[in-house]
Amino acid sequence: MIRSLSSSGATLAISWTAGGQSDFPAIWLRDNCRCAECRHPGNGQRLYEITDLPADIAIAGAVLEDGRVRITWSPGGHVSHFAAAWLADHDLAPAARRARKRHITHWTKSIDGAMPVGDWRQILADPRAELTFLDAYHAHGFGLIRNSPTAPGTVLEIGNRLGFVRVTNYGALFDVRSVANPTNLAYTPIGLGVHSDNPYRDPTPGIQLLHCLESTAPGGDTLLVDGFHAAEILRREDGGAFDLLTRIPVNFRFQSADADLMARQTLISVDEDGEIVGVHFNNRSLDWLDAPAEIVGSWFAAYRKLAEILHRPEGELIFRLEPGDCVVMQNDRALHGRTAFDPTKGSRHLQGAYVDKDGLESRARVLRRQLGEKREVAA
Ligand SMILES: [Fe+2]
Ligand SMILES: [Zn+2]
Repeated sequence: MIRSLSSSGATLAISWTAGGQSDFPAIWLRDNCRCAECRHPGNGQRLYEITDLPADIAIAGAVLEDGRVRITWSPGGHVSHFAAAWLADHDLAPAARRARKRHITHWTKSIDGAMPVGDWRQILADPRAELTFLDAYHAHGFGLIRNSPTAPGTVLEIGNRLGFVRVTNYGALFDVRSVANPTNLAYTPIGLGVHSDNPYRDPTPGIQLLHCLESTAPGGDTLLVDGFHAAEILRREDGGAFDLLTRIPVNFRFQSADADLMARQTLISVDEDGEIVGVHFNNRSLDWLDAPAEIVGSWFAAYRKLAEILHRPEGELIFRLEPGDCVVMQNDRALHGRTAFDPTKGSRHLQGAYVDKDGLESRARVLRRQLGEKREVAA
């Protein structure tokens, strides 16, 4: 796997038998030493502080020994070993870093016939089916679970199986149906444009589950739009608008008798490589823009442009939740809405709950480990 290596003191350079070369900085390697002196052998946790390492740490010697790289450090003479496979998995070259990122699949209305779907009984019975569902969910930012019980509270069972339900001022679960004197427009029969939930919370809920108990009322179909896809379209069509929405936060707010929630966030979040990692969009709870007056006009133009893209029919997936269906939505990606329904001609009752994203990610890694699949390197 390793063809040859050389070191300059500050960097270890490895040439791979498969071709290409990778550079590993000295301080980075030293901090990744897994010896029993550096990491607890039982739990793998680091046993020293960064300030315990010499600031002028350098590679005194590097040799290939039984397929592993053996490094002697200076000053101090500490010795570290790195397996070739570990180095390959943690390669810092741009292409390797890109390959380690989650591979996501953008979608539009045309995903209609190929939605990520799982069967609840299979998910419970078969770890492979559960992992397949979670992988499909993570790639698309949503997934539909079919054939779950229609008993009230099932949404908590599903949420606590896949992750951990997060309790809010709405409780552990909330009922979505038409009521008199609603505290939220969700609890009326009117249609709702696509949105992410609760951007006024910090942290904003990572995942929303909506579980269907009854749906005989005409209307009330579910709308989903891929917010990442919409944001990518905005970047392509109007780079300046995209940039503004990633940099200038806006206030979101929710007030009721017992709560006054406020959070400030950008409508689009990007990571250090410029990749879209979050979209928050909620017309009902967007409060006010606390920003320099001279950029307000451009910000609103950008916000309008994003809204126009989100409303394009070609992006809108529309489907009907039947009793026993539960849609799992990455709240900052799969923006959701519904069509209006007529509560005089039938019933529509959903129960919702919020779950944190890390719970489902952890569950997928644990299942992968149990099934003996290669562990995700980014973990
Ligand atoms: Fe919602
Ligand atoms: Zn060590």
